[in-house]
Amino acid sequence: MSEKIKIAILISGIGSNMESLIIDLKKKDHPGRAHMVISDNPNALGIKRAQQLSIPTFSITPKSKCLDKNVFEKKLLTMLRSNEIQVICLAGFMRILSATFIDSFSGEILNIHPSILPSLKGLNTHYRALKKGIHVHGATVHKVTKNLDSGTILGQTTIKILKDDTPQSLSDRLKPEEHQLYVQVLRNFLLDNSNVIQKVI
Ligand code: GRF
Repeated sequence: MSEKIKIAILISGIGSNMESLIIDLKKKDHPGRAHMVISDNPNALGIKRAQQLSIPTFSITPKSKCLDKNVFEKKLLTMLRSNEIQVICLAGFMRILSATFIDSFSGEILNIHPSILPSLKGLNTHYRALKKGIHVHGATVHKVTKNLDSGTILGQTTIKILKDDTPQSLSDRLKPEEHQLYVQVLRNFLLDNSNVIQKVI
């Protein structure tokens, strides 16, 4: 196979999606390679998980929560460029990337969002799904563009909302589905396959 596509995974927390991506990216037949994991939180559990999988990890740590967005993004861009990263996978990365950053990065940026987009953009999707009284919930992998959670949809998965569900139970049931979805979508995307991945209940 020709040279593998260099992927950076950006996280802020647990890193369960990151872990499933890395495990798949390690397979011989994968068109991509997990080159590095970058976190804005040095205490993110995902950093330990990535290290256990022997992936180089980096933190760009705001000294205070309000590290200037420009400074943070400049450091991030420098790191990505010097490592010749071609694709970024956001996996529970809790910062909104600016339009300037998105324009400046020459590769593609993907994200996984815990809702059936375009429904429930933004935060607290499990809570909001329950509050709305809807019966179906899910997750979406999409391209990242300047408009939040609005880029091209590359794949979606759905779960039923049960009578006694809480935000936590929804998250717990959705996560394994997210893992499968993100892995499939990334492969598909890197192979230049424009089929949208769908898992409908
Ligand atoms: C996932 O629910 C993902 O959809 C959202 O952030 C969460 C990250 O979870 N963007 P994890 O860190 O991958 O476990």
